[in-house]
Amino acid sequence: MERVDNPRIIQHYRSVSAISSKAIPTRERLIFAMDVPTHDEARRLVELLGDSVQVYKLGLQVFLAGAYYELIEWLTGKGKKVFVDLKFFDVPETVKLAVAQLKNRGVSFATVHGNDAMLQAAVSEKNGINILAVTALTSLDDKDMKDLGFKCNVKELVLSRAKRALSMGCDGVISSGLEVEELRKIHGDKFLIVSPGIRPVENRTVDDQKRITTVKEAFRKGADYIVVGRPIRNAAHPRQKAEEIQQEIAELFALPHVSGKP
Ligand code: C5P
Repeated sequence: MERVDNPRIIQHYRSVSAISSKAIPTRERLIFAMDVPTHDEARRLVELLGDSVQVYKLGLQVFLAGAYYELIEWLTGKGKKVFVDLKFFDVPETVKLAVAQLKNRGVSFATVHGNDAMLQAAVSEKNGINILAVTALTSLDDKDMKDLGFKCNVKELVLSRAKRALSMGCDGVISSGLEVEELRKIHGDKFLIVSPGIRPVENRTVDDQKRITTVKEAFRKGADYIVVGRPIRNAAHPRQKAEEIQQEIAELFALPHVSGKP
């Protein structure tokens, strides 16, 4: 791909683009959601995906497969980064002790889902882990919010939870690509935004994700990372699908100032 070295062009691009300029290696911007029932399946997928995926998000399903730490160790031993997505939500002391359990495990990210005291508790024991606050699940829409008794819409909830998370010292938030632009406008670019609910145009409405964006939309609005699960896992050729997404990301971050490399 052609490199752009002209400072005036780069400056112009910067001023019109919300694309993340954080020093994140481009291939780490894709996080794969490892939602599988067994370790054998997890390992099989990691071998299959090879270097098309560098960051693995380990959620509840694979946690309940047992031997979670063995899987983390195996992944970090292969040079992969690990995202512990257990969405800690409990009394603050329990959240704090849960996050403390992750110390020295080589974990890069962990999620917490709660009020100020819970977020603060997680941050107090982060030990170098990026603590990300869940704002509103991307499977929820305004009707679900009403059903749950919330008096605000999804966007208002995301913005207010993000504000709290950042004031409590979280490193970033999980947010659908739909709210990223506003989050950047209000809170700037000094925190991480990880966007799940990523769908290629062709299967926009076939599953439980309701607040969805494409890869390009999420990054153009200012996401630092995207989380992709089923579009890769259920593809006929998962590695090829992951590589296609990596290619799309590489094109977006091709300018030197956004490449994450010096
Ligand atoms: O791409 P796919 O819909 O399969 O990805 C789903 C993954 O994203 C799940 O692991 C889910 O936990 C995660 N997630 C989400 N919405 C959030 C936070 C995480 O869908 N707000």
